[in-house]
Amino acid sequence: MATPEQIQNLQNSFERAGISPNAVSTSPSQTSYFQSKMRPRAMSMSGQAKPLKPFNTEDIKILLLENVNQTAIDIFEGQGYQVEFHKGSLPEEELIEKIQNVHAIGIRSKTKLTQKVLSAAKNLVVIGCFCIGTNQVDLDFAATKGVAVFNSPFSNSRSVAELVIAEIISLARQLGDRSIELHTGTWNKVSAKCWEVRGKTLGIIGYGHIGSQLSVLAEALGMNVLYYDVVMIMALGNSKQVSTLNELLEKSDFITCHVPATPETKNLLSGPQFAAMKDGAYVINASRGTVIDIPALIKAMQSGKIAGAALDVYPNEPAKNGAGLFSDELNPWISELVQLRNLILTPHIGGSTEEAQSAIGIEVGTALTKYINEGASVGAVNFPEVSLRALDLDKADVARVLYIHQNVPGVLKTVNNILADHNIEKQYSDSQGEIAYMIADISGVTQGEIKSLYEALSATPLKIAIRVLY
Ligand SMILES: NC(=O)c1ccc[n+]([C@@H]2O[C@H](COP(=O)([O-])OP(=O)(O)OC[C@H]3O[C@@H](n4cnc5c(N)ncnc54)[C@H](O)[C@@H]3O)[C@@H](O)[C@H]2O)c1
Repeated sequence: MATPEQIQNLQNSFERAGISPNAVSTSPSQTSYFQSKMRPRAMSMSGQAKPLKPFNTEDIKILLLENVNQTAIDIFEGQGYQVEFHKGSLPEEELIEKIQNVHAIGIRSKTKLTQKVLSAAKNLVVIGCFCIGTNQVDLDFAATKGVAVFNSPFSNSRSVAELVIAEIISLARQLGDRSIELHTGTWNKVSAKCWEVRGKTLGIIGYGHIGSQLSVLAEALGMNVLYYDVVMIMALGNSKQVSTLNELLEKSDFITCHVPATPETKNLLSGPQFAAMKDGAYVINASRGTVIDIPALIKAMQSGKIAGAALDVYPNEPAKNGAGLFSDELNPWISELVQLRNLILTPHIGGSTEEAQSAIGIEVGTALTKYINEGASVGAVNFPEVSLRALDLDKADVARVLYIHQNVPGVLKTVNNILADHNIEKQYSDSQGEIAYMIADISGVTQGEIKSLYEALSATPLKIAIRVLY
């Protein structure tokens, strides 16, 4: 149990770090995205958010592995958390030992958080995947332990959009071929079939985070933009949504894919789609390797129908960097592919920039902080998404109950009976599969009563995890 002395020590440490008390429960808002999307939810109506202190835990301990970006460390240290940082991943035995007492762990793709590893964690509340993918974590097992998992799916959208812009111009001017020729001693000054991109039409398939950013950049270059999406989406700038994929294929000079890998998008561009394109069209794929039928693309390029292509993703990709890995053993058509002219091949680097890494640190660091400080699970990948605005600073005798439980009838009745002697100011609950999560702010509760509330809630049979913040 946290003593008043411990609470005071925490407050003092925030003050020493030059952080206002409000900062404890208000996420750092370092990007305009977070300013616009996250802050209003975190602030109370009066703008005075009450700093929350976890009941019955030591000060928050965070284990960061795999060289997680400095932006995340700054956020956690700014909150006064104890951060242990490692540049690499840890061998399983060491990981099992270290995970035992931490409240949060931050990893990238190499650390495997299996059922065995997660079973060793006694205090774990949240996992941050400082990357896009989450299949290195046993998400279902984490949920059954009441551990929320966050990732960063969209922090690199701008990086991908900029790569595609570079590729559009490079394909139009055959830059890849000219560069390879000169590297090998051939001077080949040509203008035939080299174009400006101004006035040409870009067709974007999938107008989500990346497709829409790209649309704005392409218009700034003087391109006309068409897009096709399964959802009706408000156009940015002067771009226009078309109602069929075929319309986009027939009207575009450059066609670029920005859709997820789903059964519907498998081989979305194949023989018939290449045939429907303009003669001399260009094709770009920086989405997922399954979206383009590459053997069909090879045929379309060999016949001259497609004048150039840029590929960043492939059905099978090497697990590590190294020479000789991009070969027919990986995908049987690679030796044929690499012989094509005006074809730019990149090793899945669309989102690989320093800026994206830094943005991932901020996005995941902020999500973890909000979950630890306020219980807000919006954006969690394995968990019901729940958020309540922060408690007001001027309210005394208030506490926030975070209660994760099995999703079966009758649980909330039991919980509300326990809370019944106090005023429930706000309450929100949601479920996902077998897990449900409730946040309730109660007032009229003294510090002495928090202990008995905590014990009564802890004793409920269908509870998975509980935290009380006050
Ligand atoms: N190359 C890289 O390094 C890199 C980096 C980040 C993302 N990506 C990939 O880029 C793709 C797009 O990412 P995003 O962040 O823009 O995703 P997003 O979810 O924001 O947008 C995807 C869009 O595709 C649309 N869509 C889905 N199915 C469709 C279909 N059958 N036809 C047309 N539209 C369809 C959706 O409605 C949505 O608007 C994803 O596959 C992602 O994994 C690649």
